[in-house]
This record gives sequence, structure tokens and C-alpha cells, in this order.
Amino acid sequence: MNSIESLTPRQIVEELDKYIIGQKDAKRNVAIALRNRIRRMMVKSDIQKDIVPNNILMIGSTGVGKTEIARRLAKIAQAPFTKVEASKFTEVGYVGRDVESMVRDLVEQSVHLVREVKKEEVKVKAADAVEEVILDILIPPVKSAGFTRPMSISTELDTDPNSDSELNERTRERFREKLRNGELDERKIEINVKASSPVGIGMIGNGMMDDASMAGLQDMISGMMPKKTKKRKLTIAEARKVLLEEEMSKLIDFDEVKEEAIRLAENNGIIFIDEIDKIASKSGKNGGGPDVSREGVQRDLLPIVEGSSVNTKYGVINTDHILFIAAGAFHVSKPSDLIPELQGRFPIRVELQSLTQEDFSRILREPKNALTKQYMALFEAEQVFLDFTEDAVEEIARLAFLINQEVENIGARRLHTVMSHLLNDFLFEVPDLIEPNSKIMVTKEMVEQRLSTLVKNRDLSQYIL
Ligand SMILES: Nc1ncnc2c1ncn2[C@@H]1O[C@H](COP(=O)(O)OP(=O)(O)OP(=O)(O)O)[C@@H](O)[C@H]1O
Ligand SMILES: [Mg+2]
Repeated sequence: MNSIESLTPRQIVEELDKYIIGQKDAKRNVAIALRNRIRRMMVKSDIQKDIVPNNILMIGSTGVGKTEIARRLAKIAQAPFTKVEASKFTEVGYVGRDVESMVRDLVEQSVHLVREVKKEEVKVKAADAVEEVILDILIPPVKSAGFTRPMSISTELDTDPNSDSELNERTRERFREKLRNGELDERKIEINVKASSPVGIGMIGNGMMDDASMAGLQDMISGMMPKKTKKRKLTIAEARKVLLEEEMSKLIDFDEVKEEAIRLAENNGIIFIDEIDKIASKSGKNGGGPDVSREGVQRDLLPIVEGSSVNTKYGVINTDHILFIAAGAFHVSKPSDLIPELQGRFPIRVELQSLTQEDFSRILREPKNALTKQYMALFEAEQVFLDFTEDAVEEIARLAFLINQEVENIGARRLHTVMSHLLNDFLFEVPDLIEPNSKIMVTKEMVEQRLSTLVKNRDLSQYIL
């Protein structure tokens, strides 16, 4: 894949095509939105600050790919991404999640992303340091006063006279060699690991303090307390992992991480607000309790979507350039039932198409993470080779489509329930009755036999499929 900066809208759509079938309109629009951010970063003049993202409202019934598109987009952009459900929020001042928490979540994701990148940068250096630490444990430096040989390696050290540092150095190199080619991986050593931060502090802040002052308090308390370590006996392979994490954290400047994370979230962050239709109140009605609070949530959303500053424990973040993608089925309410200010902040409307039976067959087969491929991989993990005939896939698609029509339309999610029902018995019998190196060919007849009675029986399929 090309670097993000050079991805053209067409290439972004191509990437999305690897995972999502159809939905051309939605893909095009999110691709434009992503490219616009890159374009904005390239704008040199002052107008850069004024270019705000064109937030997107995706309209489409359940299971047609709304969340999937947003999630994939974030992956492609390597951008911090968070998904929230609008219906979970409550108006500020009431018990529940307040809308600002989504921005804090986003920053949290961003910190995670930046940390991963930084860790990668210092990995080699950290690994070197870890090697020295492990060698020090295996062969304590000669000068150290109370030098005793670890019991476990005494045989190999027998040739080493106590205080001859040259010999000690050679032993060390020999062990380094062994360490590197994994010969010592299973050997146990004792290491000092940092004890996790004391529990209970988090509870003080619950509901009484915002995150920022919480973090401050936490820093203060952990600063006052002596760093606790505890001894753990681990194999060298395990110890290496634990020590590597520690060394990497030491080498990473956390203030830098915080700053970069805030900047990354501000410029590249994507917040996906699902079920936005659930907070739209039906027009014409007024008064009724839930409607009032729904509108309250919408009003709380406004400043965030419009651009404002939010306090997080990593610093203040400005939401001006965060891309918001909202989605909803809008079966009951309509986009025009949202308060006008909010509608204005989602100028791009895209409708997602209902999926056809043909789409279903393709979804089963084509995406990189297609369900058939997932199940094949699961079975292959036990050396059982699963495959589907062409017309078996067609039949699964046909039945899934039929059940959606007859029972309830849950879109491509139906494929999951149908597939799991179809393959459940096999999954249970591997590896007891179906042994490694067996082959399972799923045929049309098999699909019919296992599913058709269920499909015909509406009452049954309601519960099972
Ligand atoms: N067009 C599609 N192409 C490939 N897979 C799809 C498509 N639509 C849905 N899926 C699959 O169906 C599942 C549900 O899709 P998704 O989460 O995107 O639904 P949604 O549109 O967000 O629905 P909801 O309104 O219920 O949130 C996912 O596992 C996804 O992989
Ligand atoms: Mg969804």
C-alpha cells in the first residue's frame, strides 16, 4: 500500500473494495473526505485553518456496511478512530456518558497509535539493553561484591575461575551467542518487574473529578511513592518480552507522545457516531420526556462537531478538524428531524444500498476477510481442509436473503448466523471425530439439508438463524 499522503481518492476506494462489496457512493465520499484532509495539510496559506472537514451522514439499514466502511477508512488512513453510539449518551448534567467522552476516547486511541510507532523506533535499542540485562543476570559482572553463581548454569560456568574478568567476558560472549539463537529460551531466570500502580486511586476520582485533574493526582501520588518492584521467575523467552516492554517505555519520552497524540487526533482523527437517528426526535412532536433529552444530546454534540476545545488527561484538544461520520438507519425518523444546526454540520449525505442476494454471494467469497476464508482458516488451524462449491455459496446467499425477507432484515449480519449454524457440527467434531488431514467439501445439497427445514419453519428460524 502506498503511503497515506499519496493515496488518491481512487486508490482509497480500491483499498475499501478489498473489504466492502458495493456501496460505491459511500466509498467515494469517504475517499474524498480523507483526501481533503491531506489536501488541507498541503495548503500553505492562512486559509488552511478555515478549511473544515465535510462531515458525512451515512443513511442505510442495518448490516449494509456503514460501520465497516468507517472502520476500514480509519485503518487505511492509519488514523485514530473511535466509534460511539449516539443513543448511549445523556445530556450533560445527567447520569450517564457525556458526549465529550468520545473525544477523550479518540485521544486515548491516538496515544496508543503514537506509542506503537515510537516503540517500533526504539525497539532495536531496547532489545540490546534487554540482552545486557539478561546477561547480567546469567553472569553477574565480576566486580560485584556478593557474586554467587546462579545454580542453574553452574555447569557451564565451571571452567570460569572466579575473578578472571577476561574469561568472564568470554563466557558472556558465549552466552550472548546462545541467547541470540534461542538456546536458552526455556531456562528460568528471576527478574525485577515494576509492580503495577496501586489500585484504588481511580476510585477517588469517580464522578467527582475530571480526567485531567485525575491524571495530575495520579502522577503526584505515584511520584511520591517509591517505585515498587517485585521479583518474578520467568523463562528467558518470557522475561525478554517483559523486559522489552519496560526498556521501550524507558526510552520513550511520554511528553512527546502526548503532544504528538493530540496533534494526530486533531488533524487525522475520525469519530464515528452510530445510531444518530435514535437521537432525532420526530418532527411535530414536542414536550414528551425522551424527546427533550434527545434534543439535549444533539445540542451537546453541536460544539464538539462544530469545533471546540476539550480537556483530556493528555492535554487540551481542539475538535475543529476531526472528521465526524454519523450513521443511522432512519427508518422511523428522518435526517431532517435532527436539529438544523446539527444537520448543517453533516453536509454530505450518502445513502447505502440494501444488499442483494448477488452481493451476499460476493460478500461470502471476495473480501480479504470473507466469512468463507475465515472458516477455512479456522479449520486449517487443525489441519482440516474446508472448501465450498460454487453453488453451495450461492445457496447460502439465497437462504440468508430469504430469511432476511421473511423474518427480519439484518443485512450481511445474517450471513454470520447462517454460516455458524451450517458449520457448527463440523466445528464441534474437529478434531475428535474429524481428524487432521480430513477434507470437508460443503456442497449445495449439504446446505439444503442442513438449513432448508429451518428456513421453511418461520418460528424456528426466528430463534436459530
Ligand atoms: N457491503 C458489505 N461488504 C462486505 N461486508 C459487509 C457489507 N455490509 C456488511 N458487511 C458485513 O456485515 C457485518 C455488519 O456490517 P456493519 O457493521 O458495517 O453494519 P452497519 O451498516 O454498521 O449496521 P448497523 O446499522 O446495525 O450498525 C460486518 O461483519 C461486515 O463485514
Ligand atoms: Mg454499525
